[in-house]
Amino acid sequence: MAIKKKLVDLTINSEDKRDDMTLRPKFLSEYVGQEKLKENLKIYIEAAKKRKEQLDHTLFYGPPGLGKTTLAYIISNELNVNIKITSGPAIEKPADLAQILNNLSENDILFIDEIHRLSKPIEEVLYPAMEDYCIDIVIGGEGSTRSIRLDLPKFTLVGATTRFGSISAPLRDRFGIISKLEFYTDEELKNIVMRSAGVLDIKIEEEGAMEIAMRSRGTPRLANRLLKRVRDFAEIKYEGVINKKVASDSLNSLNIDTIGLDINDRQYLMTLIEKFDGGPVGIDNIAVALGEDSRTIEDVIEPFLIMKGLIQRTQQGRVVIKKAYDHLDIKYMSDIFEKDI
Ligand SMILES: Nc1ncnc2c1ncn2[C@@H]1O[C@H](COP(=O)(O)OP(=O)(O)O)[C@@H](O)[C@H]1O
Ligand SMILES: [Mg+2]
Repeated sequence: MAIKKKLVDLTINSEDKRDDMTLRPKFLSEYVGQEKLKENLKIYIEAAKKRKEQLDHTLFYGPPGLGKTTLAYIISNELNVNIKITSGPAIEKPADLAQILNNLSENDILFIDEIHRLSKPIEEVLYPAMEDYCIDIVIGGEGSTRSIRLDLPKFTLVGATTRFGSISAPLRDRFGIISKLEFYTDEELKNIVMRSAGVLDIKIEEEGAMEIAMRSRGTPRLANRLLKRVRDFAEIKYEGVINKKVASDSLNSLNIDTIGLDINDRQYLMTLIEKFDGGPVGIDNIAVALGEDSRTIEDVIEPFLIMKGLIQRTQQGRVVIKKAYDHLDIKYMSDIFEKDI
């Protein structure tokens, strides 16, 4: 039983790609939430500008769809410098990275998405580039190889990852700024929905925006996606305006419940409860039972369930918390035991 790649699939789809260009806030002042991160980043940016120096290498980490890529673009806009975009899996060999680095200009931003997926030999090209702004290139062949050192312009590496734990220590230590993105509050997501509705010219009431916010798993990408789906319902089934009832009915039709759990989340919880007595159970067993990649489960499904206090990761494995049973309206085992005694 494979998890359906639907709304919960937080990897970017083609519609997201098109709308990202219009919906992405371009400056820090438009970026909703992540207050602490924003406050600090503002200072680092101001300081770099004042000294006319490049910004320190910066790493953003956190679950997908929370605004890491957006921040990379914002930094380039705030500093008024160019940004080059690539990703861990896109860089296949050390020479690819050497070429990218060699084409940078002074103060440019190099954004590497999914930076945890760089291979070791490629990471090794990055170390001297980050630290001393140079790369060592090996030339020649057939026993007559030598390495020459090439100076690079002073650039800023911005890395993003959903898996902080998978970043090697030497790479991690070369970032001057490391920031974690948190899930957004309902109020923040409501503001994001209102802003996006304004940009996309969608008619919406605040209560409708709040209804969407509460069911968006703390994630702006999902909030924007749900806004567009609810708009479809509003235009076809209702009078065109998204109010509380329209939002609520539409989201119910999309099988997204009142706290934002969708079919994948519920399937995950039900599997743990029905097949593993609520845990503790290891991730590999869960992956097999769900027919889903364990990374997707760890990166996309679990962080939100943990944040909501529905499951816990323990030494022994995942455990479903009573709150999840209550939410799903299933009797909690220890309640039953207590009655038996
Ligand atoms: N703080 C924010 N304020 C407003 N919109 C946001 C914010 N963070 C993210 N978004 C929206 O969510 C979408 C996904 O953000 P993105 O930066 O691509 O996430 P990530 O790179 O972390 O997966 C963006 O297109 C943007 O429209
Ligand atoms: Mg991204």
